[in-house]
Amino acid sequence: MESSVTRRTFVQAMGVGTAASLGPLAAGAEDAPPKTIKIIAVACSPRAGKTTVQALGFCLEAAKAVDPERIETELIDLADMEIPGYMAAGVPLKPGHRDDFPDVAAKLVDRRVAGIIIGSPVYYRNVTALCKALIDRCFALRARRFALADKIGGAVAVGGARNGGQELTLQAIHSALLCQEMIIVGDGRPTAHAGGAVWNPGTDDISDDEVGLATVRNLGRRVAEVALKRAPAE
Ligand SMILES: Cc1cc2nc3c(=O)[nH]c(=O)nc-3n(C[C@H](O)[C@H](O)[C@H](O)COP(=O)(O)O)c2cc1C
Repeated sequence: MESSVTRRTFVQAMGVGTAASLGPLAAGAEDAPPKTIKIIAVACSPRAGKTTVQALGFCLEAAKAVDPERIETELIDLADMEIPGYMAAGVPLKPGHRDDFPDVAAKLVDRRVAGIIIGSPVYYRNVTALCKALIDRCFALRARRFALADKIGGAVAVGGARNGGQELTLQAIHSALLCQEMIIVGDGRPTAHAGGAVWNPGTDDISDDEVGLATVRNLGRRVAEVALKRAPAE
């Protein structure tokens, strides 16, 4: 992924000016990882608190259950945030726009964050524009010493049809995370496929999708287990 984005345009795209504002990871990525870890899920639906947030809630619950003492979780709902994707290409913030990406980025690059789960609704068998904007803006983190490298990555997709493109959406997220040198995992056993694939039957209530929720929970557990294996023992 060669880029014509210069350091100056990258810094503009990031929306921050110094390595210090990226948090401790940027300042000392070579330090030993901490003993307690954090797993973050990011919901990329424009609708606040709907099915993607619900699915990620189940996912993080399962992650936390692996070792409640050592695992902290956080769910970031992008619905009410503004992530201007065009800034990834060095285009300055346009008048009247707001940029919430630096706040999200600072959380993601924190060295205590060992796992990141991206959740998107399925839109036309792909991720939402909001999810793509987040992915594109994370280009700045790649350009800056691969600040997400070696974090465990997972994906959740919620569609309005049983087979509405969830797997393609998971793949789109995985492709982006691979470009960040993240370590991709899917839903763990016994389902063991590409990640959380959920069906919203049109009610905005996914609690009856037992098959989909099993994949979501198995993903959360798997992200946590692999993340803990990479963290130092007590
Ligand atoms: C513009 C648009 C496109 C959509 N395309 C698909 C699709 O291709 N496949 C699918 O299964 N569902 C599709 N859906 C349905 C959403 O994926 C589904 O309602 C999902 O649960 C929304 O997530 P949310 O509740 O977190 O907003 C689409 C919805 C919208 C608004």
